[in-house]
Order: sequence, then C-alpha cells, then structure tokens
Amino acid sequence: MTVPQAASDSGHDQHVIVSGLVRTFDASQPWLVRVIGRQGRRIVRAVDDLSFSIARGKTLGLVGESGCGKSTVARCLAGLLSPDAGSIRIAGATASGTPARGEIQMVFQDPYSSLNPRWRVREAVGDSLLAFGLASNRSQMGEQVAKLLIDVGLAPEDGAHYPHEFSGGQRQRVAIARAIASEPSILIADEPTSALDVSVQAQILNLLRDLQAARGLTCLFISHDLGVVDHMADTVGVMYLGRLVELRGKEDLFERPLHPYTRMLIETAPRLRRSNQQRSAVRGEVPSPLAPPPGCAFHPRCPLANDRCRRERPEPIALPDGGNVACHAVEEGRLD
Ligand SMILES: Nc1ncnc2c1ncn2[C@@H]1O[C@H](COP(=O)(O)OP(=O)(O)O)[C@@H](O)[C@H]1O
Ligand code: SF4
Ligand SMILES: [Mg+2]
Repeated sequence: MTVPQAASDSGHDQHVIVSGLVRTFDASQPWLVRVIGRQGRRIVRAVDDLSFSIARGKTLGLVGESGCGKSTVARCLAGLLSPDAGSIRIAGATASGTPARGEIQMVFQDPYSSLNPRWRVREAVGDSLLAFGLASNRSQMGEQVAKLLIDVGLAPEDGAHYPHEFSGGQRQRVAIARAIASEPSILIADEPTSALDVSVQAQILNLLRDLQAARGLTCLFISHDLGVVDHMADTVGVMYLGRLVELRGKEDLFERPLHPYTRMLIETAPRLRRSNQQRSAVRGEVPSPLAPPPGCAFHPRCPLANDRCRRERPEPIALPDGGNVACHAVEEGRLD
C-alpha cells in the first residue's frame, strides 16, 4: 500500500513515516469464564492499518471519539507498545531503525499520575538530563533545570517543591519541562489539556505551540476536541474505530470536509471558529470496537450509507489536494 501524505506535507522532508500500523489487544474474559459462557477470545483491533507521515517541524493532529485508538497510536510511536504489524520510521534514526534515546518524548493527559509524587520538581526534570547525559554533574543539572522551568513559565524556585504542591496546569508545565529536557525532536501530546480546568487549557496549548515553534519540534497532537486540533495542527487525521477516515491539510479539512464522519464532527463541534452551522445532535453511538460493523464501520451512523458501504471496507483514496479520504460516497461522486 502506498503511504498517503497530506497536502501540507508535500515538499517537506518527512520526519515520521507510519505505514500500515496495526495493534490489537486481547480483551477476552478469563479462561474459566469463557469456558462456562462458551465464549471465544475477544480481540480488539485498536489500530487497524493506519498510514500517515509528519513533516519535520510540523504538527499532525489526531482527532476522534474516545476509544477510537488515538492513545494506542501515540504509545506505538513513543515505543511504549509494539505494533502487531506495519512500520514506524523516524528519519535520521540509528542504523537499526530505532530513534536515538530521548528523541521522542510524550506528554500525557493526566499530570497527576505522570509525575512521581516523591520526587521534587528539580529531580523530576533533572533526572531526564542525567539519564541522557545532558548534564554531567548536579550543579550543571541545577542550572539547566532552572532554564527549563523558565521556558515552561515556572520559576527556578519551583524546583524545590513536590508535584502535589502545584495546580493541575502547573503540574502539566512540569511534565512538559521533563519531556523537553532530553531535547527531543519529536513530541507526542496525548490530550494534554483534557484533565485541566478550562481556564488553564488555553495557556498550556499556547505554551506547547510556542515550544514547538521555538524548538522546531515535530509533533503528534491528540485530542477528541476538533477546536483544540484546529488551534494546534498543520495537518489533521480523523480516526474512527481504529482507522484513519480522512487525512488533510487543516485548512482543506475545515473548509471542505469530505468524510461524512468529519462533517458530523465539524457540525457538532462547539465554538469552532469556522462553524457557522446550527449545532445538531451527534447521530448515534460509536459501535463497540470488539465487534465493528462490516464494510465501512461508520455505516450505521452515516446518512449516505448504501449497500456497498455495508459490505465493502473503503480504502483511502488520494485527493488532488494531497490528502486522502476513505469513503465510497466520495469515490462515487455522490457526496453533495
Ligand atoms: N491495554 C489495553 N488492553 C485492552 N484493550 C485496550 C488496551 N488499551 C486500549 N484498549 C482498547 O483499544 C481501543 C482504543 O483505545 P485507545 O487507544 O485508548 O483510544 P482513545 O485514546 O482514542 O480513547 C479501545 O477499545 C480500548 O478499550
Ligand atoms: S463509505 Fe459509505 S457508510 Fe462509510 S462514510 Fe462513506 S458513504 Fe458513509
Ligand atoms: Mg486516549
């Protein structure tokens, strides 16, 4: 299969190239329960044949409802999970194809659980420096931690405190300082503001955007909120039940969304800058990833579904704008 690339990526050198990524989980009941209930194993295809690339210094936003596989993509890319199939290539990686240590860092949704409560902030951030050999002694480490804390909008004195002494937003700043300490070239942010008060979300998003620009980071930015992705991304990938249904340059996606699911997300997104339509209710529920509908998994919710949609799974079609979309209605020219 060819690797689809989004419009805004063409002409840039590709830093991250993901091709045919598959990751399943065994969600079976315990053996005895299965035997008594005469159940088989239950395998979730959390990520099912995903391909995308991210140009150096650019941000790909991944959006989709809870459970569609966003975090699984992030964890595969970060090396925290191994894929069942497919490949992840990082340009400039070592001969073995694996990125250099510290090259890819991740900021998680929950800053409460991602920081060790027994470590002072200075240690949480400085540990990365020592681990990657970026500071050779404690006084060098102290100076660098102070700089990093300033970079994320904290004060050097904050290094003496423990995570529980900070608010959620400040804790996320500490987590970000820790992530950038190893001077990664790739930063993955998995719903980094979803656990925070609305009042501090914008500050953290702006901080991430400023750091991304200042450090030329290549980013995978994940959110269930299209408005947040609009704020952060150059290219947007829309996921539905483990698959990428549309991958487009951001402007193209918001100005002329093609996939019926993308259109539904945009129509129902609150406070989206370009949305001037009436808010309509989201149609239907996301089916269980344990038993995705046959054909196009979106067909039970799709106003354009036909017989072919119920039978045949749509594959990504390359678009003239460089993006791609997986939908029979687009291919058949019966969208509008
Ligand atoms: N460790 C795991 N064990 C079993 N199932 C998992 C595991 N991690 C994720 N899943 C399942 O994979 C699917 C995708 O999950 P996830 O990647 O967390 O989605 P998202 O981040 O979009 O909410 C879900 O159905 C989820 O229940
Ligand atoms: S393939 Fe068919 S069911 Fe799926 S989104 Fe397109 S029109 Fe709807
Ligand atoms: Mg998630």
